[in-house]
Amino acid sequence: MQEKPPAPGTPATAPTERREFLKQGCAACLGLAAVGAPVAVGVRVLLDPLHRSGGSDAFVKVTTIDSLPEDGTPVQFPVLADKRDAWTKFTQVPVGAVFLQRQGARQPLALSVVCPHAGCFVDYLEDQESFLCPCHNSFFKKDGSLKDEQSPSPRRLDTLDVEVRNKTEVWVRFQDFQLGITEKIPIA
Ligand code: FES
Repeated sequence: MQEKPPAPGTPATAPTERREFLKQGCAACLGLAAVGAPVAVGVRVLLDPLHRSGGSDAFVKVTTIDSLPEDGTPVQFPVLADKRDAWTKFTQVPVGAVFLQRQGARQPLALSVVCPHAGCFVDYLEDQESFLCPCHNSFFKKDGSLKDEQSPSPRRLDTLDVEVRNKTEVWVRFQDFQLGITEKIPIA
């Protein structure tokens, strides 16, 4: 059966129907916003589950200057820090590692263990006094500079800011840097 056309002067859609439609639209938008914010936080935590609570400017105590070999041989130390995700705080969990070596009696040099090419961890070869990245064979000298210009790494090993505090404590500003580029740019 054919629907009757609206009477002359009657709008095609009644005002109450339009109001209902707008109300439902607003409710849907608010619902999306309410769900979207926690999802965004969750995704960030998933991508960086041990999100650094101290931020990239935070120095962490790694060891003491007396534990570094006097002959300047680099030694790898774990880096421990307090972390917090969206729900829980973790204290002194491993967040990475750093190579430390003496450059003077009381002056340490801190190098990232992360190869700037694609992020593999480098090893220190004592017999060759060099760092080697096992993934694509980038070679670095003991001070972290490139040993072989043909190495795929676009830059030297990244140095990290380091301070000696209270005469013996070695504190490092633990940071990650962008990979695959010649510039050393911290990841915020
Ligand atoms: S990741 Fe180190 S050489 Fe490729």
